[in-house]
Amino acid sequence: MELEFLAKYYKFYLSGTSITLFLSFFGVILGTILGVILALLKLSKFKIFNIEILSKIASIYIEVVRGTPLFVQLLMVYYGLPIVLGVELPDVFAGIVAVSLNSAAYVAEIIRAGILSIDKGQMEAARSLGMSHSTAMKYIIIPQAFKNILPALGNEFVVLIKESAIVSVVGIHDLMYNTETIRGISYQPFAPLIPAAIIYFIITFSISKLLGKIERGLRAGDSH
Ligand code: ARG
Repeated sequence: MELEFLAKYYKFYLSGTSITLFLSFFGVILGTILGVILALLKLSKFKIFNIEILSKIASIYIEVVRGTPLFVQLLMVYYGLPIVLGVELPDVFAGIVAVSLNSAAYVAEIIRAGILSIDKGQMEAARSLGMSHSTAMKYIIIPQAFKNILPALGNEFVVLIKESAIVSVVGIHDLMYNTETIRGISYQPFAPLIPAAIIYFIITFSISKLLGKIERGLRAGDSH
């Protein structure tokens, strides 16, 4: 097996890795912001004509996004965004939008489950002390839910690092795209995949380890 490509093209791996990290990082941040909003909408009891309209809209969004492939969503954003916005944006931007919109639906369910995992006595106690629903949510429920949510959110980051490889099909120069480039210019279909797999693994494995540590720290904080 020829390993010459490694010395010659290693810079492709490095720049691809940075784009992959950039995409996944902003994907998970924006996905979380949107996901929190979606989760709160889904839990809201706001009614028009006796229908919990906000909750319905959030549910439909979550179901549709989770029920269709990220691949399809990516193509729809990539080709649809310029039509909707009327401007061509950098490719990476379309990638971030697609990944964030997808992630938001998964994050919303993580957050909703986290909020529902808090005993309802907590809300009742807060309300009986005179707090409004939203104050209780903000100061009593969300801070406790956060502990259950954080590990799952970290896991979402790991998922996005792997799933973001799909953006290579629309020409975003992430790790996977650059690996394909190396396969082409080196005329080697197999070997260049190995460093790519190793890089993906090192990133996801380190993040998982780090998350495990943080999780244990949070749990240790529970015992006093
Ligand atoms: N391959 C999956 C799909 O098509 C990606 C799911 C993304 N998951 C996530 N937790 N954001 O739809």
